[in-house]
Amino acid sequence: MTKPEVHKGLAGVLADVTAVSKVMPETNSLTYRGYPVQDLADQCSFEEVAYLLLEGELPTRKQLNAFKKAEVAERGISRALVRVIEEFPRKAHPMDAIRTAVSFMGMEDPEGQDTSLEATRRKALRLYAKIPTAIAAIARIRKGQRPIRPKAELGFSENIFHMFFGKVPEKQIVKAFDASMTLYAEHSFNASTFTARTVTSTQADLHAAITAGIGALKGPLHGGANEAVMHMLKEVGTPAKARGWIDDKLEHRALVMGFGHRVYRTGDSRVPTMAKYRDQVAKLRDGGTWLEISAILAEEMLAKKNIHPNLDFPAGPAYYMMGFEIDFFTPLFVASRITGWSAHVLEQMQDNRLIRPLSQYVGEAERPVTPIRSRG
Ligand code: COA
Repeated sequence: MTKPEVHKGLAGVLADVTAVSKVMPETNSLTYRGYPVQDLADQCSFEEVAYLLLEGELPTRKQLNAFKKAEVAERGISRALVRVIEEFPRKAHPMDAIRTAVSFMGMEDPEGQDTSLEATRRKALRLYAKIPTAIAAIARIRKGQRPIRPKAELGFSENIFHMFFGKVPEKQIVKAFDASMTLYAEHSFNASTFTARTVTSTQADLHAAITAGIGALKGPLHGGANEAVMHMLKEVGTPAKARGWIDDKLEHRALVMGFGHRVYRTGDSRVPTMAKYRDQVAKLRDGGTWLEISAILAEEMLAKKNIHPNLDFPAGPAYYMMGFEIDFFTPLFVASRITGWSAHVLEQMQDNRLIRPLSQYVGEAERPVTPIRSRG
C-alpha cells in the first residue's frame, strides 16, 4: 500500500470550486467576480463592492440606491445588545467583543434559525449593516463614552468615522478607508473563510459561521497581523533604528508581521493600492516617520529574505494615522470581510457537501484497557 500523503496546513489542496474571487499568484493579481481588486478600490465605493460580492454583479445606480437604503435601515443595534456590551470586561479584546456581539445578534435575529438561502441573504445584509455599529459601540463604551447612533445620510465608511469619533474626516481619509474596506473584503479560501464554509457545511446558520470566522480571523497569522504591524512600527520607533531592529529579528529567525503569504510568493496584489492610500493619509496626518520605517523594513525583508509585504503592512499604519486604536484594526477587517464570508456561505449552501477531511493516525497502537486497580 502506498503511504497516504498528508497536506499539512492544507497547502496546495483544492478543497472546492468558487466563483467569488480568484487569486493569481503568478501575476500577483486578485479579482472579485472577475474585476481586478485595485480597480474596484479606486473606482467603486465599498457599498458597490459589497453588492458585487453578495449579488454577483456590480449594481446599477437604482440597485445601489436600494441596497444602500436597505443597509441604512438595518444599521441600528438593539438596546439589549448595548447592555450586553456594557457588561463586557473593559480589558476585553475588541475581537472577542465583536465575536460575542455577532453571536448575540444571531439570537436576536428574527430569522436566526432559518437556514434557507433567502433568509441567509437577508441576515447577511443585517450583519453587514450592524457590525460597524456594534464595533463603534464597543470602542466607545469601553472608554466610558456613550455610543453614537448611525446617521442615515452618511455613506458606509463616513458613518463608521461618525460612530467612532463623532465626526467625518476629510474626503481623502474617507476614500482611503473605503478602499481598505474593498481590499480586505474577500480573498478566496483563506483560514476564516474556510472556517465559515466548514461551519456552513454542517447546515448551521449564518451567525454560527460568522462567529467562527471571526475567531479564525483574530489570529496574528491571519487578520491579527494588521495590529501586530503597528505594534512593530511603534516598537522600532524611529527610521534610524529600523535597519538594526529588523536585522536583529532576522538573525534570531523571528517572524516579522505583515510579511509573507501562503499563496503570494512574489508580492501581494493589494499592497501597492493600499500603500498609495496609506501615503495619502500620511501626508494629511504628518505620518512620514511611519512611511520611512516601513520602507526600510520592506527593503531589508526583500534583500535578506526575499519576502514581500502583505496587505496588513500598509493597512495597519493607515488605520493608526486615521485615529483608530490599534486593537480595533482587526474588527475593522471584520466590518469588511463580512461581505466575502457571506458570499462564501451563500455559495457553500447552494452546492453543499459536509467538509470532513481525514487524518493519518500516529498515536499508540491498539492496546487493552487495564482496570484502574491494576494501573497503580
Ligand atoms: N517573517 C520572517 N520569516 C518569514 C515570514 C515572516 N513574516 N513569513 C515567512 N517566513 C519564512 C518562514 O519562516 C519560512 O522560512 P524557513 O523555510 O527558513 O523555515 C519561509 O519564509 C517560508 O514560509 P512558510 O512558513 O512556508 O509560509 P506559510 O505559507 O506557512 O505562512 C504566513 C504564511 C502568512 C503564515 C507567514 O508568512 C507569516 O506568519 N507571516 C506573518 C504574519 C502575517 O503577516 N500574516 C498575515 C497574512 S495576510
